[in-house]
Amino acid sequence: MDAAERVRAAMAAQPRERFLPASERRRASHDGPLAIGHGQTNSQPRTVEAMLELLDVRPGQRVLDVGSGSGWTTALLAELVGPTGWVLGLERVPDLVVTGRANVEAAGMPWARVRAAVTGVLGDPELAPFDRVLVSAMATRLPVELVEQLHAHGILVVPVAGRMLRVERDAGARDGRRVTEHGHYRFVPLVTD
Ligand SMILES: C[S@@+](CC[C@H](N)C(=O)[O-])C[C@H]1O[C@@H](n2cnc3c(N)ncnc32)[C@H](O)[C@@H]1O
Repeated sequence: MDAAERVRAAMAAQPRERFLPASERRRASHDGPLAIGHGQTNSQPRTVEAMLELLDVRPGQRVLDVGSGSGWTTALLAELVGPTGWVLGLERVPDLVVTGRANVEAAGMPWARVRAAVTGVLGDPELAPFDRVLVSAMATRLPVELVEQLHAHGILVVPVAGRMLRVERDAGARDGRRVTEHGHYRFVPLVTD
């Protein structure tokens, strides 16, 4: 299977409705963001699919999911890495940590977990390096802290100032990374303080 087929299979295995509040479940097939409380959203399915394709997650990898929200992306990443991999979802809104964690636990993949983000710390430098990092909130600048949490040749997918960036860590490249752009998107803000 290529990356697109693997992502489609993961999305079929982890249906969006299981990660939505009861009030939004009937709208699960709507291809747009849906409210999950606290002004946050479960992202548009087409956007999630595009980001996961760019991330090109492989079985057995260690993956960080920044902004785990409803837990949907954390579960999709867990599906993609399989039981030999490991996924950490980080979320800054305490209520969403609780619901996102419950949703991920209900998905039955104990190699994935959701934890509260530490205020003022982006990602988890202590558990780095990661093979892949997904960020589902809009940064105002490239978060170099997260690039530094990648393995050599690891990949970060992050929306920055309206543009989707794919960043591959590469010691031979300028600034130690190769950055490509993949279209324009809107997201809730990535909080960095
Ligand atoms: C688009 S929403 C959730 C998308 C989520 N991946 C899903 O599948 O539901 C983005 C989330 O990022 C969270 N967030 C923003 N800044 C963050 C940070 N620095 N660390 C962790 N989470 C953050 C927000 O609270 C919000 O829940």
